[in-house]
Amino acid sequence: MTLLRKHINQAVAFIRKHTTMQPEIGIILGTGLGGLVKEIRKETVLDYDDIPHFPVSTVESHHGKLIFGTLSGKNVVAMQGRFHYYEGYTMQQVTFPVRVMSHKAGLGATTLLISNAAGGMNPRFRKGDLMIITDHINLQGDNPLIGPNDDDLGPRFPDMSEPYDHELISLAQRAARDLKIKVQHGVFVAVQGPNLETRAEYRFLRGIGADAVGMSTVPENIVANHMGMRVLGMSIITDECFPDTLKPVTVEEVIAVANKAEPKLTAIMKELVKRL
Ligand code: HPA
Repeated sequence: MTLLRKHINQAVAFIRKHTTMQPEIGIILGTGLGGLVKEIRKETVLDYDDIPHFPVSTVESHHGKLIFGTLSGKNVVAMQGRFHYYEGYTMQQVTFPVRVMSHKAGLGATTLLISNAAGGMNPRFRKGDLMIITDHINLQGDNPLIGPNDDDLGPRFPDMSEPYDHELISLAQRAARDLKIKVQHGVFVAVQGPNLETRAEYRFLRGIGADAVGMSTVPENIVANHMGMRVLGMSIITDECFPDTLKPVTVEEVIAVANKAEPKLTAIMKELVKRL
């Protein structure tokens, strides 16, 4: 047994002392995007600090809680607060909760919904827009699958031809349409951070085919794909990253825009879960 597998088993064993719920769906909520949590009918709430091998969140705007309950009648497990590579965690630590939530060795989730705050580089995007992630580029310079592979969790060389499930994408799109909420679609590029990008970097990232940029989501997506989970990712465009007209941005503004646009994201996620 790999050490990773041992740690997953210990985390799951601890969680199982508190709940027997089998979540179908795992949810990871990004910066300023905790509103969906209020919609969950809570059954059990655990502090990350208490769960063996769970990293502890260092970002103040994040609460470290693992929430079990029902959303639109479905069993879900939600991470309130996520771990970022820039905080100094390894990729394995960043993605450990996804392992724990999953159907492979973990709690049972076969679907993963991820949200994040991202900078918009597509000139058609505006602050406050929602973007359904259709594909991604990993520019974090690291990978959570590096190291010995646990063949029981997934293959050594996982396929990434469809990292974001096309059925989930069309379900989200239809949910948004029925709710009369405008959504963009696009490619998300993950960078290390924690600094935002220079104009030259935004020009480069746009040039290689990305529509939005952020500091999360891709590691979790890779690990979920490794285990055969289907993933939906959605970004809130919190700032406009157009190199020729770039203005300074603060994390407070990013969070304010995320908070303002959040109800749209919550509505789509809730409706999507109902239709799953
Ligand atoms: N760059 C990286 N991450 C981000 C940005 C950005 O411009 N905006 C929100 N998250």
